[in-house]
Amino acid sequence: MAFLADRLSRIKPSATIAVTDKARALKAAGRDVIGLGAGEPDFDTPENVKEAAVKAIRDGKASKYTAVDGIAELKAAVARKFERENGLSYKPSQIIISTGGKQVLYNALVATINPGDEVIIPAPYWVSYPEMVLLAGGEPVAVPTTMESGFKMKPEALEKAITPKTKWIIFNSPSNPTGAAYTRAELKAVTDVLLRHPQVHVMADDMYEHLVYDDFTFYSPAQLDPQLYGRTLTVNGCSKAYCMTGWRIGFAGGASWLIKAISKLQSQSTSNPCSIAQAASVAALTGPQDFLRERSARFQERRDLVVSMLNQINGMSCPRPEGAFYVYPEFAGLMGKTTPKGKTIATDEDMVGYLLDDARVAAVHGAAFGFSPAMRISYATSDELLTEACQRIQTACAALR
Ligand SMILES: Cc1ncc(COP(=O)(O)O)c(C=O)c1O
Repeated sequence: MAFLADRLSRIKPSATIAVTDKARALKAAGRDVIGLGAGEPDFDTPENVKEAAVKAIRDGKASKYTAVDGIAELKAAVARKFERENGLSYKPSQIIISTGGKQVLYNALVATINPGDEVIIPAPYWVSYPEMVLLAGGEPVAVPTTMESGFKMKPEALEKAITPKTKWIIFNSPSNPTGAAYTRAELKAVTDVLLRHPQVHVMADDMYEHLVYDDFTFYSPAQLDPQLYGRTLTVNGCSKAYCMTGWRIGFAGGASWLIKAISKLQSQSTSNPCSIAQAASVAALTGPQDFLRERSARFQERRDLVVSMLNQINGMSCPRPEGAFYVYPEFAGLMGKTTPKGKTIATDEDMVGYLLDDARVAAVHGAAFGFSPAMRISYATSDELLTEACQRIQTACAALR
């Protein structure tokens, strides 16, 4: 009898974490590797947020548990954030604070999925969505998109994927891994389909809301139609917007019955998220917000730099996405070519392996996100490193025969 649970054999480890770990290990061993695999901003947590954490420790907050679903001040700050930025009104009983957005998403799935329930996930998708659905005992249903449509799901494709077993759609805009963000009209086309299928609930992953460029205006699905509000779980967090990935605070607003179910699960697993990080998150959400815009301007310049350099490569095509800090170049034109060491590039995994070994640049292969041949490049690093990394990729691709 196998000792490990069967459910574990249904999932694979996170490819993005694997690449980040590999790049870190190579760097630690003295190799000059540029890591473009990580999904986190390279900027530091704002000072007022750090100060709030230090004060929380001094005030004895670290030595006590908090309410399982989060401290009242943070729930109030989250409610104000949803009202101010998304026009969404949630009472405290409709808000949950968790250990990262990742835990909210996972708990919501575990709290609602029965065996055989289907969850629609537009592809390319964040690596964790299908695995979380599988862990919860459900069936992920990928809806493919194309580079020509800017990696955005067509309403017809969504309509076709919905069955009586569909419980959720996980909707992520701006997207990890492509950076694609839906305009109001594009989002409306999607929500119009969902209005015709009242059994389908929406998990709106708005994690990259504040990372949008060229005057793009962000909309969250529940904002678009009052009928969707009751069946949407609006998920967000402090990680990407406030450069707080290590602090582990995520949150969501949704129907009270759903929030209660998520909270019940949290009460018997991890309990409250870190009390110090919760105090810090109050400062993040209620403190000065101007830096969000300044930082987006920096990211926009980096996006333009990377897109332009990657598009100079023969056989590679890199769309210019609206948001997040990723680009997703496709390179069908390089498949079947041979490296200087005589290895054939047959898959996108071969390609990122070649780039890591020969160009010393770490990226994540597209197969992990459900769209090949492509790779995800994170541009959340300095202009100097990005320029150097793109030059190395250009040289490595030019050396393919
Ligand atoms: C699309 C998306 N959703 C959710 C998360 C989870 O973020 P966290 O758990 O740090 O809040 C991430 C992190 O990479 C992400 O890329």
